[in-house]
Amino acid sequence: MIILRSRAEIEKIRNSCRIVSDILRKIGETVQPGITTWDLNALSEELARQSGAKPAFMGYHGYPYALCTSVNEQVVHGMPSKHRRLKEGDILSLDFGVVVDGYYGDAAVTVPVGKIAAEAERLCEVTRESLSRGISQALSGNHLSDISHAIQEYVESRGFSVVREFVGHGIGQHLHESPQVPNYGPPGKGVRLKPGMVLAIEPMINYGGPDVEIMEDNWTAVTLDRSLSAHFEHTIAITTDGPEILTLI
Ligand code: MF3
Ligand code: CO
Repeated sequence: MIILRSRAEIEKIRNSCRIVSDILRKIGETVQPGITTWDLNALSEELARQSGAKPAFMGYHGYPYALCTSVNEQVVHGMPSKHRRLKEGDILSLDFGVVVDGYYGDAAVTVPVGKIAAEAERLCEVTRESLSRGISQALSGNHLSDISHAIQEYVESRGFSVVREFVGHGIGQHLHESPQVPNYGPPGKGVRLKPGMVLAIEPMINYGGPDVEIMEDNWTAVTLDRSLSAHFEHTIAITTDGPEILTLI
């Protein structure tokens, strides 16, 4: 069942989303060669505490950290580590969520560490743009898979590939609600979108092939061919005036 959210509920989700964006922006500004992903996680916890928000991922299916830090060929769910010191040329996906007053917000960005290769830059830019093209299809009356299709078509036209194993999701009183939002598929399928639906749309895009595998830690997803991967995510609300991005950074 897909829940349609009232104005008052969207206001609460917006509040959580604003905290998520503020924290992601601050963490992004802290990223530089030499810092560890552990330090970034500690900062995210501290900033969440200061804003009275509870990190949404910590404890979710046993995930032990507030932040996901996925470096280079890591696709999603990279675990912060004291031993992972970022170096010039890395790309780093930062995925973060909070819950405040029972309502969730969720977003992700991929940021460069120092100066990165032109091809890495292009992967990040195409991934960011694919999210924006997906969001532009989040219109009342459209089908759910119009979002998915817009993402896939754009990404593949640029020569990159869409990860199939992880999807976007409804969000509200839980981190993951119905519906699932795949980043691939034909247009015109799935439910019709309606004002009040709140979705987290999150393309994960690989430089090489689409396949992924999970590492021995049972969390970190990496590209099977070890090519670079990027990830961007926004929480959006569908309104009568079109999609509203609630996690604008
Ligand atoms: N943004 C991711 C998602 O929506 C983060 C989940 S990490 C987890 O699925 F640890 F909470 F699972
Ligand atoms: Co998400």
